[in-house]
Amino acid sequence: MKEEKLQELLDSLSMVEKIGQLVQVPGPVLEAQGQELGVRDALGISEEIIQNVGSTLNVVGADQIRRVQKAYLEKSRHKIPLLFMADIIYGFRTVFPIPLALGCTFDPELLKKLCVATSKESVAAGAQVTFSPMADLVRDARWGRCLESTGEDPYMNCRYAAAMVEGFQEGLQEEGAGKGMASCVKHFAAYGAPEGGRDYNTVDMSERRLRQEYLPSYKAGVDAGCEMIMTSFNTVDGIPSTGNKWLMDDVLRKEWGFEGVVITDYAAIAELMAHGVAEDGKEAARLAMEAGVDIDMCTDCYANNLEALIREGSIDETQLDQAVMRVLRLKNKLGLFEDPFRGADAVREKEEILTPKHRGLAREAAIKSMVLLENKEELLPLCREDFQGEKKIALIGPFADNRDALGMWAIHGDKDAVVTVKQAFLENIAPESLVCTEGCETMLAEDYTDLLAFYEQTGKAAWSTEKRKGEMERALALAAEADVAVLALGESELQGGEGGSRTKLTIPGDQLELLRRVRKCARKVVVLLFGGRPLILDEVKELADALLLVWYPGTEGGHAICDVLFGSREPEGRLSMSLPRSVGQMPLYYNAFSTGRPYDGKTPIRFFSRYTDCDNTPLYPYGYGLAYHKAAYGPVHLDSHTLDREGKIEVSVEIANESSRAGMETAQLYIQDMAGSVVRPVKELKGVCKVFLEAGEKKTVTFQITEDMLRFYGKRLRYESEPGKFRVTIAPDSSCQLQEEFNLV
Ligand code: GLC
Repeated sequence: MKEEKLQELLDSLSMVEKIGQLVQVPGPVLEAQGQELGVRDALGISEEIIQNVGSTLNVVGADQIRRVQKAYLEKSRHKIPLLFMADIIYGFRTVFPIPLALGCTFDPELLKKLCVATSKESVAAGAQVTFSPMADLVRDARWGRCLESTGEDPYMNCRYAAAMVEGFQEGLQEEGAGKGMASCVKHFAAYGAPEGGRDYNTVDMSERRLRQEYLPSYKAGVDAGCEMIMTSFNTVDGIPSTGNKWLMDDVLRKEWGFEGVVITDYAAIAELMAHGVAEDGKEAARLAMEAGVDIDMCTDCYANNLEALIREGSIDETQLDQAVMRVLRLKNKLGLFEDPFRGADAVREKEEILTPKHRGLAREAAIKSMVLLENKEELLPLCREDFQGEKKIALIGPFADNRDALGMWAIHGDKDAVVTVKQAFLENIAPESLVCTEGCETMLAEDYTDLLAFYEQTGKAAWSTEKRKGEMERALALAAEADVAVLALGESELQGGEGGSRTKLTIPGDQLELLRRVRKCARKVVVLLFGGRPLILDEVKELADALLLVWYPGTEGGHAICDVLFGSREPEGRLSMSLPRSVGQMPLYYNAFSTGRPYDGKTPIRFFSRYTDCDNTPLYPYGYGLAYHKAAYGPVHLDSHTLDREGKIEVSVEIANESSRAGMETAQLYIQDMAGSVVRPVKELKGVCKVFLEAGEKKTVTFQITEDMLRFYGKRLRYESEPGKFRVTIAPDSSCQLQEEFNLV
């Protein structure tokens, strides 16, 4: 529809019809057969508004969406189609590894491919907008939503956010293509920095830190053309994002030029009252509208207050019209006025989901996101031929044959399609070479305060003392008779995700005790670690012969794990978040400031920035990961030690594969600004190069350094570089020393 037609449509709408476009209701409100009043009453929104709402969330499936859209349009005066939005965060029916795992690939192009595939599955099933990517930078593993983030580095988070937006929206611009989904970048802004790592808690930081470290990834999503931004639950400088005009208008719209739709997070407008910045729903609605929020997700604030606010002049009707027009433009861009179903079709849906191509992508992504943390005496890869009847593997642990390892935000994933570790083992080795048992539960009551309630809800039951004892003994017996014990351990999905903050970062339940006892009787011990956040692994590091961090690896996790364990592929992941020694180190990140008393980590002196009971460094640093090949980095060379503003410096290093196995190396470029008008991080990642090396091969990796890479928010809060001395290196991870110096003149 042409713009002028949209304007005519807007002009023809009544006040209720306009307000309706800015209200989003949960699927059941529209989906419930016979309109179960219970759900609708709970929202407190009038029938008149409900019949004119602009969008709904988490209704998926071609048949469902066709049914809801058809019923809705039959009652709609102007036939403005509903917008269907959903949390399709890292896969639809084919589920990929969690974003924190994908952040370990250092391969934005791969993430783009995953999002194109996700979009294909989702659009065939009728979804039109996805609430992804989550571009929140994370540094505190106590926060359960680390799993949805691509990690602790601003540079990589920018590249990933842009790639995901491009992937989801690929094809969206093609006229009537019915391809691509609108991408909603979230949670704007800095939701990943709650005090204490406690979800929804206060976020408070300087504008400099906000601009330097937290805002860039959202801006990368905006610059990549995302159609929507979601406000975050938290405060920014004392004002909740959802009512924060500086953030939503001055920064997002005026500075960044964002012209898309702003939606709140779930019930966030009403939460302005709980925050204490609005006395009632009416004030909350006014604050949100004034800040520039277009869509109210699942509260009655806009529905029940906007008309009064306009009638009394607190809000100008032009603000309402602008918001409604942005929603109508998005529907128009999606082609909904021409085809309200956008090609959603049950037959096509079945054809598009869980295809061999998508499964192959899921397997590839899992291999590239797994991180090999320990491999003593090069135990891995195991020789598949040894386990065709001759030798035996004891596969033990709560994640040995577990389909609940997709992570909390795989809500539309097909768990029946998941390949478990046990299934994949049975495709690789002889049945007589495999014994398998759980050994222990994932969690005990002390690991999860609501566990007993959860068990009651789900009909599960905690193991009795006898069962725990018997299962443990059975596991130990199997481990003792096997050549290799493979322990599939990890954190329960319940312990992470939204609302999943923890004060301890331990592997829960009896799992560590299981490992301790298996260690005493097994010949060799491999640990596969499942989870969605960094955990404390100091004891696992000591007890395991090999330790492979598999995260929540997605639909093809089992296959990918066996590909790596038996060596048909090597693990390519490099850590997207620092793994701590202790929860007391939180927040922990590599690109920290030096402080006035930097501790060198070894000299026994007291009055320096250190702990008396723990090393400052992570157990495993950002960017770290072992491989099966052996790469040696030579000295770093600069083609000049002086950089002027128009010029460039080439920095290079020779990397030699000193092993008989080919492999992929992830070379990382780190730069330190030695002195600025404000303190600067001890190092910052400024480039990544993935290079494949044949056995014995040497390759030179070269990066170009230009002035724009050295810009930052200085004393005057302007984004600019400052002349002075810099250090640089190219290394396999962030624990590196910066070798060479250059000057920016
Ligand atoms: C949730 C989450 C957000 C999600 C939204 C819709 O509370 O914070 O990430 O997209 O609500 O489900």
